[in-house]
Amino acid sequence: RSTFGRYATGAPFLCCGCTGRQSALDTAGSEADATSFLFWVLVSTGAFIWLAVVGLLVYALRNRRRMWSEDAAGKLILWAGPIFSSVVLFALLTYALWLMPGLRPSSAGALRIEVTGTQFWWRVAYHQSPGPPAISANEIRLPVGEPVELVLRSDDVVHSFWIPSLGGKMDMIPGRTNRLSLLANKAGIYGGVCTEFCGTSHALMAFSAVAMRPDDFDRWLAAQSNPAANAGGSGKDLFMRHGCGSCHRIDGTEARGLVGPDLSHLGGRETVGAGILPNSEDAIARFIAEPGVLKPGTRMPSFAMLPPDEIRAIATYLKGLK
Ligand code: CUA
Repeated sequence: RSTFGRYATGAPFLCCGCTGRQSALDTAGSEADATSFLFWVLVSTGAFIWLAVVGLLVYALRNRRRMWSEDAAGKLILWAGPIFSSVVLFALLTYALWLMPGLRPSSAGALRIEVTGTQFWWRVAYHQSPGPPAISANEIRLPVGEPVELVLRSDDVVHSFWIPSLGGKMDMIPGRTNRLSLLANKAGIYGGVCTEFCGTSHALMAFSAVAMRPDDFDRWLAAQSNPAANAGGSGKDLFMRHGCGSCHRIDGTEARGLVGPDLSHLGGRETVGAGILPNSEDAIARFIAEPGVLKPGTRMPSFAMLPPDEIRAIATYLKGLK
């Protein structure tokens, strides 16, 4: 096959980074729309300037004999250089400044979601008035077409919050509160990531962002505010007996730990282990047995010493919490 043919076969793989559920160029939110448009403005301006410079260079090389006098060329470079650069940079700066007010967080009438980064997962609290916040972890749900105010904090080191398809990103800094607003305009499941190196499992600190129709979202949030309807069976007894509740909280039970992720409605989430495995009983059982293998540096100890049927029963209980 020709060299061109070989490159042409590779092209789709180059482009697949630009689409999908975690791409800043395949947008589903108004903040991401604004930044991806700015990206294309910058890229096309850069490409235009590059082509113009290369064109002038080729022209100059072809017409060496008939070039202007040294004096005229010197004057052209002296004046055209600074003026052209100033005009282009000023235009781009004006455009970016004009975009900024729309990217600033606004809290007027917005749903407030508090997200706290911690090695290597995310605490999530949905603030609603009246009533206490609904607590969750490692997944963010938001209504399509309604602005959401994200209140971002960190428990330990610097993390950074980014949902490329919806907008962002924003650092999460210990001792400081940062705010970000997002408006999803297309229902779907989008990938979210930590974008600041925060330790061994930084690359495994992810989450799903689920944009839902507003009435679906209201129903979901109302269900999150109550304990999951799950009798529990032997898995629940084992969960409590082995002390899982000293680190994890499950609404409506004696499990009140705040060290690890809240598991109140774990069964309804997209992933297990903060975005590393699709949610299933198998995945939950695997995480209980070998958390340190799946997520190096995690504070959760391994429970591989438990009999496999006990691990399975606990996984069944947790998957049933919807
Ligand atoms: Cu948290 Cu990187």
